[in-house]
Amino acid sequence: MEFQIEEPQGKLGILLPGLGAVATTMISGVFAVKKGIGLPIGSYTQMGSIRLGKRTENRIPKIKDFVPLADINDIVFGGWDIFEDNAYEAACNAGVIDRQLLDKLKPELSAIVPMKAVFDRKFVHNLNGTNVKSAPTKMDLAEALIEDIEQFKRKNNCSRLVMVWCASTEVYMQEKEVHQSLAALEEGLRNNHPDIAPSMIYAYAAVKSGIPYANGAPNLSCDYPALVELAKQTRTPIGGKDFKTGQTLLKTVIAPGLKARNLGVDGWFSTNILGNRDGEVLDDPESFKTKEVSKLGSLSNIFEPELNPDLYSSIYHKIRINYYPPRGDNKESWDNIDIFGWLGYRMQIKINFLCRDSILAAPIVLDLALLLDLAKRAGMYGIQEWLSFFFKSPQSAPGLAPIHDLFRQLMKLENTLRHLQGENLITHLGLDYYEEE
Ligand SMILES: NC(=O)c1ccc[n+]([C@@H]2O[C@H](COP(=O)([O-])OP(=O)(O)OC[C@H]3O[C@@H](n4cnc5c(N)ncnc54)[C@H](O)[C@@H]3O)[C@@H](O)[C@H]2O)c1
Repeated sequence: MEFQIEEPQGKLGILLPGLGAVATTMISGVFAVKKGIGLPIGSYTQMGSIRLGKRTENRIPKIKDFVPLADINDIVFGGWDIFEDNAYEAACNAGVIDRQLLDKLKPELSAIVPMKAVFDRKFVHNLNGTNVKSAPTKMDLAEALIEDIEQFKRKNNCSRLVMVWCASTEVYMQEKEVHQSLAALEEGLRNNHPDIAPSMIYAYAAVKSGIPYANGAPNLSCDYPALVELAKQTRTPIGGKDFKTGQTLLKTVIAPGLKARNLGVDGWFSTNILGNRDGEVLDDPESFKTKEVSKLGSLSNIFEPELNPDLYSSIYHKIRINYYPPRGDNKESWDNIDIFGWLGYRMQIKINFLCRDSILAAPIVLDLALLLDLAKRAGMYGIQEWLSFFFKSPQSAPGLAPIHDLFRQLMKLENTLRHLQGENLITHLGLDYYEEE
């Protein structure tokens, strides 16, 4: 199949529900890079490169020179939040980026003022804000978001938009009847169905408008049949869930290594402390449950205990998140991994990661926005599994298990980009030497 990719002409608007720590760290970073006072470290699209053809050809372009991505100078930002703070104030409150740097970006950041949010405390218990829309039905709220989107596009003269959910984690929910078809969802929106969360209303508004949507939190948002149906109908790319950062990132690096060497694992205990607003929201057991389910999936998928019962059938996997305000956004995590080798002899691995949550998440938001915009211009739509690389709990097609192993995810991402540009896929078989040419 040949992909005709439209060139990224004009401005790309990145719309962010939730102007908190992650969103403002990403926006500040993009402004700093544009001014030449920072580097986009951790960003696949800005710093990454890709091998093409045979090893002997020595063709290894930067990703941004290989595929037609929007230039970061052509990006504008908008967003919604339940608090009225502009992006400068929100970034100062988040305390991730130092004040000295934020002050250099103050005019640009202060100009980003959040639109009134769609919010319901039933879904995020630990927050309360006043910058919130009210309307008789959830469908009216969706229409108000669609109106915000259209106004933003006109005002900022954008040719294209993408939306990335960077708002708080909502309480744990499972799919219900109302999520099973587009007709049921739209009926539910008109009748204020209690199982339609705010994140689903944003996702509906974006996808209905043909705007690519990524979900950076673990709540369902766009991960259910009705939204997938809408994405197909409006030919819109979607993806989720939950940015892959910190502890889970390391887990999906280390677990494939242990598996590759056929070492057994019977315990993996992960605990961490964090003190930002995300930590405060996750202190509520119902929001924590959403996060826990998202984090738990990775190990069983990587180890495939059904194929390797002697090595992985009795893994005890435990995850704890503790809200601890003194650390702010600087999360500290500890992992204890109980492993066993030859003849069952036992060993332990300890990991202590002193990370910065939003510093790890910010480049992912930018990459997702740029790659979803690329997907849309390439005519791709529905669930974009090739973007699993960026997610803790990748959304996959019905009946298919998601891929968690970071290295398989990277291979899928790279091969998709090669395919888009008509390059040969690379299997790493190394048969090149035997080909006559
Ligand atoms: N930082 C990471 O490494 C990381 C990794 C994976 C996922 N996430 C997820 O990303 C999200 C953002 O994280 P953060 O650290 O920026 O949190 P944060 O609390 O600093 O920011 C979230 C913002 O969303 C706002 N908000 C809540 N509900 C809203 C709604 N319905 N509409 C609009 N705004 C709303 C809040 O007021 C807050 O300002 C969280 O769901 C978090 O779980 C973060």
